[in-house]
Amino acid sequence: MLSPSARPAIERLPASRIREVANAGLGRSDVLPFWFGEGDETTPAFIRDAAIAALAAGDCFYGHNLGLAELRAALAAYLNRLRAPRVALGPERIAVTSAGVNALMLAAQALLSPGDRVAVVTPVWPNLTAIPEILGAQVLRVPLSNCDGAWSLDLDRLLDAATPATRMVLVNSPNNPTGWTMPQPQWDALLAHCRRHGIWLVSDDTYERIAFDTADGLAPGVLGQVEADDRVVSANTFSKAWSMTGWRLGWLVAPAPLIEQIGKLIEFNTSCAPPFVQKAAAVALEQGEPWVAHVQARLRTARAALLAQLADLPGVIAAPPAGAMYLFLRIAGASDDSLACAKALVREAGLGLAPGVAFGPEGEGWLRWCFASTPQRLADGAARLAGYLQRQRQ
Ligand SMILES: Cc1ncc(COP(=O)(O)O)c(C=O)c1O
Repeated sequence: MLSPSARPAIERLPASRIREVANAGLGRSDVLPFWFGEGDETTPAFIRDAAIAALAAGDCFYGHNLGLAELRAALAAYLNRLRAPRVALGPERIAVTSAGVNALMLAAQALLSPGDRVAVVTPVWPNLTAIPEILGAQVLRVPLSNCDGAWSLDLDRLLDAATPATRMVLVNSPNNPTGWTMPQPQWDALLAHCRRHGIWLVSDDTYERIAFDTADGLAPGVLGQVEADDRVVSANTFSKAWSMTGWRLGWLVAPAPLIEQIGKLIEFNTSCAPPFVQKAAAVALEQGEPWVAHVQARLRTARAALLAQLADLPGVIAAPPAGAMYLFLRIAGASDDSLACAKALVREAGLGLAPGVAFGPEGEGWLRWCFASTPQRLADGAARLAGYLQRQRQ
């Protein structure tokens, strides 16, 4: 009998290492979880109310593949405000997707053929490398460098990897899990390089509104420099800046001809994002700036609080992340095997962190702590880590 297995590219996909740690804490109510990448606040009422009103009005039918006209227009206006691109963005360059991960999958489905070469800056959220692999593309990892906990990119390393035979360069900045944020001159040089060689540049902008070194919290990015027909794609989501992880809504910006093709792909993937969710998202864009500012301020406070708590812990190496909502830390003598360490922390300290190896071999030896939480809970978590380390030394 033929074995009932999936195709090899799927069989090869690793199971989530974060889930593996979380499963070790299943059924334990005393574990403080900082392992998943989401905040602990509910979506604000004005967004929830907009969805409720849309449902009450009977907004429960199929919509256009590329999204509601009103949301695409609101996204274009939002992005023109945010990035002031050289060429103003129109709705024809926008597709509404079922969250950020679906935006990334659609971009990859539209652009990658089996065997295509994709250069990805790592360590990174595992979906970014898994998606090209699912499609049979060949992933080339370009590691960030680390110095005393601070991460940086040797741009030449990325440009060398992005040969003319490369189909796509994939950058996530601010980066999950390290918080590394690509400076504007690197974006500009990378764009010039990709233009020169006809390489698609895909920017995962999930955390672009969460940068700690700029006054307005906006990270440097590529979208402001992009011409209408540049081979550049931006994938984005409502999940983080508007606290809407469970709503599953995101978007893509790409050249209009590519968006047209992506419309076809959306038909075969999800057909459309839920219209009542899209109505709520339009309200999030129109009225949500105070909430985004609240999320930014809260994360800024949380980051400082956690860093202060960990500063005196012996062996803990961590540098302030420039963006996103994670502290990537190392514990000398304890976290070399990050999966074993994360499981031990759950078991013996009731502290739930993500193992760095979940983000690729470059993350091995590190632990990711999502600090989208209250200073009190973070202090509680830090005290558990301190207690664990002390017991280890005895
Ligand atoms: C780097 C990165 N990209 C994309 C996403 C996708 O988010 P969502 O699918 O919730 O929109 C995440 C979520 O954690 C992420 O960390």
